[in-house]
Amino acid sequence: MTLHIVILAAGLGTRMVSTLPKVLHLLAGKPLLQHVIDTARSLQPTKLIVVGGHGNEKLKAAFPDPDIVWVYQATQCGTGDAVKCALPEINGGRVLVLYGDVPLITISVLNELIQKTQQDKVALLTDKVEDPTGYGRITRDTQGKFKAIVEHKVADDAVRQIKEINTGIAIFPTNKLKTWLDALNDDNAQKEYYLTDVFAMAVSEGIDVVTLSPSFVGEVEGINNKQQLAKLERLYQQRQAEQLLLAGVTLMDPARIDIRGKLVCEQEVVIDVNVIFEGQVKLGRGVRIGPHCVLKNVEIAAGTEIAAFSHLEGAQVGENSRIGPFARLRPEAILADNVHVGNFVEIKKSTVKTGAKINHLTYIGDARIGEKTNIGAGTVTCNYDGVNKSTTDIGANVFIGSGSMLVAPVHIGDGATIGAGSTIRRDVPAGKLTLTGSKQITIEDWVRPSKKSQK
Ligand code: UD1
Ligand code: CA
Repeated sequence: MTLHIVILAAGLGTRMVSTLPKVLHLLAGKPLLQHVIDTARSLQPTKLIVVGGHGNEKLKAAFPDPDIVWVYQATQCGTGDAVKCALPEINGGRVLVLYGDVPLITISVLNELIQKTQQDKVALLTDKVEDPTGYGRITRDTQGKFKAIVEHKVADDAVRQIKEINTGIAIFPTNKLKTWLDALNDDNAQKEYYLTDVFAMAVSEGIDVVTLSPSFVGEVEGINNKQQLAKLERLYQQRQAEQLLLAGVTLMDPARIDIRGKLVCEQEVVIDVNVIFEGQVKLGRGVRIGPHCVLKNVEIAAGTEIAAFSHLEGAQVGENSRIGPFARLRPEAILADNVHVGNFVEIKKSTVKTGAKINHLTYIGDARIGEKTNIGAGTVTCNYDGVNKSTTDIGANVFIGSGSMLVAPVHIGDGATIGAGSTIRRDVPAGKLTLTGSKQITIEDWVRPSKKSQK
């Protein structure tokens, strides 16, 4: 069955008070329009058409995907005109109309809309709302059969009492839609071509308009301002938290978690409050995430604990490790099993082998750290000479004394010990004690300065 999807996204979005086109604003870290495109794609349409207008070039640049057909609506003279702009791209089958600023519409309700209506019928999503101000109202005859949509602006008091509203999301037989759109006029208060006038045309031709309601709150809500954006963000996060809870994840407070991407958890995962997940995050069995952590594109293996206030991005952590509190793992930090990384430790583009410990105040960049090696407090891999980055290669069972500077490129052999406070500029042999520094001296007759008297 041929299904075309048209997403309307030509509106200006004045009330966002922003130069960014409305549908490019982010919900859960993803542009509003991306949410709708993702949902539309999963319905496997024959063609996916987006109607752009305001900020068209910015929109096209943000969605270069070859499966999207862009059409341009030069002046925003109504939803009917917007759909009409897409018609040259559409042949036969049916047309599903979606909105770029209604991001939470679900695949399940759209599938229902597609499957429950026959080819030649019109189907419309309607909803009952407490405050229907501004929406088009659904009018029905005495048998409850659909009659028409009356826009708020042109409705009389009796019609304005109706709480059943038009969500705008509807499916039409293409050939019929073409003739109806041709017959539209802008003979109304706003001088706009209303897509909503099409429904009464269908009824007058004896074509049933089937109506369906969404199953989840917020699903058909549109975004016009930052307040509505924030509200839908919360709804979306709440829904994700509920799904995690049902999948067996322990959330210390489901109202205090943000997932901006995809979070996959195995069993017995515990997540404390105010944790932000971005991109793709995988948590193995029994992983515990402490409060106030940020995890972006990371994989944490079973049994590992990430303690409070840690920031991890583009990193991998093995099993039964302990990271943080206050640790920072940057892209390409690859940690094996049983690794300990403590407070104020930063690791970038480095591999850390099983059982290694880096517990305090340390920078590890462009380094390899062998099994069971212990890096003392305040150690720095000096990986940057101002022009190039070089590698620090540390063997297994090495002990680096506190406050050591390891000037890369440098290699430290297995089992070596580095005395505290050393500056290592040359390769260090295995199994020996190496240290640098000046001799400690004591000045016998030295007197501590005293405060000068102020006369
Ligand atoms: C529309 C419906 C109303 C419905 C409401 C649901 C019409 C005439 N009215 O009203 O019945 O209750 O949505 O939210 O359809 N757009 C374009 N080009 C245009 C005009 C609009 O692309 O020329 C796009 C907008 O960017 C937006 C969508 O269509 O995504 C809806 O337009 P909007 O002006 O917000 O319609 P409403 O007045 O809210
Ligand atoms: Ca609207």
